[in-house]
Amino acid sequence: MPRDASTPAGVRAVTAVAPAKINLHLGVGDLRADGFHDLLTVYRAVDLWEEVTVSFADRDEVTVSGPGAPHVPTDRSNLAARAVDLLREEAGSDARIAIRMVKGVPVAGGMAGGSADAAAALLATDRLLGLGLGRAALEERAARLGSDVPFCLRGGTALGTGRGETLATLLRARTEQHLVVALADGGLSTPVVFAELDRLRAERTDLPRAGGTESLVEALAGDDPLMVADLLTNDLQPAALSLMPALRRTLRAGEEAGALHGMVSGSGPTCLFFCSDREHAISVAAEVSAHGVAREVRITRGPVGGARLLTPQQTTEQ
Ligand code: C5P
Repeated sequence: MPRDASTPAGVRAVTAVAPAKINLHLGVGDLRADGFHDLLTVYRAVDLWEEVTVSFADRDEVTVSGPGAPHVPTDRSNLAARAVDLLREEAGSDARIAIRMVKGVPVAGGMAGGSADAAAALLATDRLLGLGLGRAALEERAARLGSDVPFCLRGGTALGTGRGETLATLLRARTEQHLVVALADGGLSTPVVFAELDRLRAERTDLPRAGGTESLVEALAGDDPLMVADLLTNDLQPAALSLMPALRRTLRAGEEAGALHGMVSGSGPTCLFFCSDREHAISVAAEVSAHGVAREVRITRGPVGGARLLTPQQTTEQ
């Protein structure tokens, strides 16, 4: 079987995991000439994970399992496949690589599931091909694949600027959050949601715009989940609600259930309900679930770390 000369001896398959992200603050600026919007965001990694295994194989292939798997492309447009192709080309390798993904993050849900796949695939392929790129070099490759991919590699809590790819870790942002994740029927396409925001802004000059992040960053260094909850904001929410008005009912159900704050996650349609502790999250989740306004309800927490290698399987074959 073809193997790159620099491949660590015996390593034939490598597994990595990467977390979902939420945006505690998502300020969207104007449309840029390159088709992206300038962002000011506070990212947080939460305890939902994508798992990606890359292995030497007879042919390139992508297989996906877990919730929503049938909606994930298995051709080379898949973000994990693009990550593998990028590093394979860089390594000058002609090895055939199979990619196996297990979805733990909602598909097309505004929680960066595809970006997490790419982040995990970068880390695993770097190891499989023995490239030895450091974290900074991997983040640079990650930014080429998508705006959220560098954050899925890094994890924790970070300020994101540029189109979201320029990161500054917020080391003091330690306040733990427990939240409920309410999945919607169907997904929303990120570019469509950004375009809807542009349309709404052209139509209405009174659409609120998120301000600075200083108060939120300060609150995140404390230990009061309510103070943090009061400062959460998402400029994309009006656009997601415009495209999927049923989400209003979901948000209302979470508020009626006593959540500290409810909002759409990123470009949606997943809704997030922030709670004071895990027990509170369990009670909000049960109530939202009973309202029948969500396809599925999950409980999670953050912050968690970024992409990580799971021990590569070793074989005796060289
Ligand atoms: O970077 P990513 O591939 O995730 O972006 C997907 C799409 O979302 C972009 O093509 C663009 O339409 C929109 N987007 C944007 N501004 C950003 C990030 C994404 O307009 N900062």
